Amino acid sequence: MSTYDARFRVWRGDTDGGELTDYTVEVHDGEVVLDVVHRLQATQAPDLAVRWNCKAGKCGSCSAEINGRPRLLCMTRMSVFSRDEVITVTPMRAFPIVRDLVTDVSFNYAKAREIPAFVPPPGVGPGEYRMRQEDVDRSQEFRKCIECFLCQDTCHVVRDHEENKESFAGPRFLMRVAELDMHPLDAAEEAGIDRRRSAQEEHGLGYCNITKCCTEVCPESIRITDNALIPLKERVVDRKYDPLVWLGNTIRRR
Ligand code: SF4
Ligand code: F3S
Ligand code: FES
Repeated sequence: MSTYDARFRVWRGDTDGGELTDYTVEVHDGEVVLDVVHRLQATQAPDLAVRWNCKAGKCGSCSAEINGRPRLLCMTRMSVFSRDEVITVTPMRAFPIVRDLVTDVSFNYAKAREIPAFVPPPGVGPGEYRMRQEDVDRSQEFRKCIECFLCQDTCHVVRDHEENKESFAGPRFLMRVAELDMHPLDAAEEAGIDRRRSAQEEHGLGYCNITKCCTEVCPESIRITDNALIPLKERVVDRKYDPLVWLGNTIRRR
């Protein structure tokens, strides 16, 4: 087994501020960045705060930024970096710091709560509806989400604009609205819930200008922009220019 010394630069601090601190840490063959962060904790920085759980890319806990790019620490192999490169590890920039590499991601849970749940269709019992394969595929793709919030972290709408957070749910939750709006059995409309209107007016779909950065960083390779955000935008526009909807709105306004 070969080993080498890597140069790490890790953000250390808390809500009062902090700075990048340099470390030299041993690396073994086949390791990921989280292994090295754990060795750093074990040998030089026992108080270094880092959030992790599964070490298998499934819990979504170890999100951070490596050389400025949002990534999972446990799924980033050391072999993608050259041995003489300084590897900078910083907390997710879009969320408030708790300590060191740990951020407060409660913004995301608040946004999740704003989206009404799936509404089961009245009168359709279990086994009474046959889903089309494309509807199954779409739901399965979106449900691969591990809620790492890397897409939320990278989206420029909130990354550098704290003021937009109130009116923008972010790609992960706009994808959730899209999933429900395109679900063939969702009976939200009959229950008086207009998912397309709320996507636009409450969850800030219009802020998204399809930069696709969210899709690029998603560790589950979900095609967030192409399969969720763009179709949702199209559905909002279809609704807006539907002549029956226009007529209904015009009559209601009188
Ligand atoms: Fe993470 Fe992808 Fe889910 Fe966004 S959509 S939270 S990047 S798994
Ligand atoms: Fe943001 Fe993704 Fe749209 S990064 S701008 S939500 S395509
Ligand atoms: Fe679970 Fe990295 S520790 S995704």
